[in-house]
Amino acid sequence: MSGFSDEQLAAIRAQFPALAAADSPTSPTSGYIFAENAGGSQVLLSVAEAISSYLLTTNVQMASYALASRAESRVSHGACAAAALLGAESPDDVMLGQSATQLVFSLSMMLETRVLADRAAGAEGAWQEGDEIIISDADHETNRGAWTRLATRLGLKLKHWPVTRVSNSESKYAVTLDPKVLETLVTSHTRVVAFTACSNLLGAFTDIGSATQVVRKVAKDALVCVDCVAFAPHRRITPRSWDVDVAFFSLYKTYGAHVGAMYVDPRVKETQLARLNHFFLHTPHAPPGMYPFQTSSVQYELNYSIAAVADYLVSLGTAKQVPSKVDWNALFGRASSEGELTALSRSEVDDALDAAYARVAAHETTLLQVIMPVLLKWADKGLRIVGPEDASSDARAPTIAFVLVDAQGNHRVGTSKAIHQALVRSAIGAQQGHMYAHKLVSSLGLDLADGVIRLSFVHYNSADEVRRTADLLTAIFQTLV
Ligand SMILES: Cc1ncc(COP(=O)(O)O)c(C=O)c1O
Repeated sequence: MSGFSDEQLAAIRAQFPALAAADSPTSPTSGYIFAENAGGSQVLLSVAEAISSYLLTTNVQMASYALASRAESRVSHGACAAAALLGAESPDDVMLGQSATQLVFSLSMMLETRVLADRAAGAEGAWQEGDEIIISDADHETNRGAWTRLATRLGLKLKHWPVTRVSNSESKYAVTLDPKVLETLVTSHTRVVAFTACSNLLGAFTDIGSATQVVRKVAKDALVCVDCVAFAPHRRITPRSWDVDVAFFSLYKTYGAHVGAMYVDPRVKETQLARLNHFFLHTPHAPPGMYPFQTSSVQYELNYSIAAVADYLVSLGTAKQVPSKVDWNALFGRASSEGELTALSRSEVDDALDAAYARVAAHETTLLQVIMPVLLKWADKGLRIVGPEDASSDARAPTIAFVLVDAQGNHRVGTSKAIHQALVRSAIGAQQGHMYAHKLVSSLGLDLADGVIRLSFVHYNSADEVRRTADLLTAIFQTLV
C-alpha cells in the first residue's frame, strides 16, 4: 500500500482548520508546523461542526419526545462509532468517559469493589493479598498510577516490566518493551498486566500479540489492559484479535475532542467488575450496556462527535476526499434518526479502516526516512534517539524523542530545554520534558525536568514539514554541540 499523493495530502489537510491556516500564506499561523501531535492532534472541522450542531439543534435530555429521540440516536451514533474504532462486537462493550486517565481509574475502582465483595463472601478465585499486578516502565502514568494505587489498597504485589535495549543497537537509550522480559515476570498469581501499545515517548510499538500469549500461557485469566492512546493515531486497535481484555484511547490525540473510549471484554465486565454508577443502576432491571458501569455519561455533544472521527478514518481508507457520514447505529442494528447516512457492512468498515491505517503507515515511513538519518548523523556528537533508531514504521511511530549526552554518556542537562526553545521560536510546535512517562525517563537516568525533546508527526504532516524541521535542527545542533 502506498501513502498519500500530494493531492490527497492537500485534501486531508484542508479538513483541519488549523492545518488549512498553516497552509495559507495570509494567515497569522502561516507555515506553522504541528509537531506535537502525541500531546494533542489537530481537530477535524467535521468534529467541531458535530459538536456545534448537537448543541445548537439537539441539546435536550434523553426522553420520549421526538427531539429527545433524535438526541438519543445521535449519542448512540457516537458510541457505535467508538465501538467500530475499537473493533468491539457491540457498543455495550465500550465505556466512554472524560479521558483515558478517568477510564482506567474507574476500571480500577470497579475491580477493587468486586474483589472486596468476593473476598468478604469467600468466593472461589477471589484475588488474594500477595497476588500480582505487572505494569510497564514504558507507560504513560495513566496505565501505571491507577494500578499502583490498586495494588496498595488490595495488598497486591506490584511488579515492573522494564524496557530493554533493542537488539541491533549500541545505544542504551534505544529501548523498547520486550515480551521475553515479561515472560520472566508472569506467574500463576498474576491478576493484571498493564502495558502500552505504543509508548508516547519512545514511539515504539509493543508486540501485543506475543505479550498476551506470554500472559495467557501462565496466567490465563489475568486482565490484560493495553493503553492505545499513542497507538490509535498510527495503527488500528484490535483488542479481540490481540486477545486482550481492555484497550483504550483518547480521541483528542486522534483528530477529535477530548473523550476517552475503552473496550472491555464482556466476560470481564460481567465477572470482574462491580458497577460504578448510581446504586439504583445496579439492579438487574438497570439499562443494559455500559451505562451502569460509567460515571454517568460523557458530554453528549462530545460523544456524538466521535462519529466524525470514524467517518474521517473510513474516508482515508476509501480514498474519498470528502468523508461520507456512515450510519454507525445501523452497523450495530440500531435505528438512526439522521438523514443522509451511508449504510456500510461491518466488513466494509473493517476493510476501509485497514486500508486507512495501511496508508497512514506507508506515509509515516516516508516521514521517518526524512528525519531519522538527519538525527542519527549527530550520534558522534552525543545525540541519542530515545527509542528504536529505525526509519521504518514497522517498529515505530513517527513520535521521536532525543537527548544530547556528554562524552561519558550522561544527559547534558539543559540542552533539551534549549533545543525546544529554539524550535518553538521558529514556529515548530514540539514538546520537551517527561511527557508523563515519568518512570521511563527516570529509569533511563535522564533529568526529569529537562527530559527529552519530542517531535511527534502524524499522517497529516508533509515530508516538506519534516524536512524543514530537520534543517532547523541541523542549524541548532551546529551551534550547540
Ligand atoms: C500514552 C498515553 N496514555 C494516556 C494518556 C492520557 O490521556 P488522557 O489525557 O485522555 O487522560 C496520554 C496523554 O498524553 C498518553 O499519551
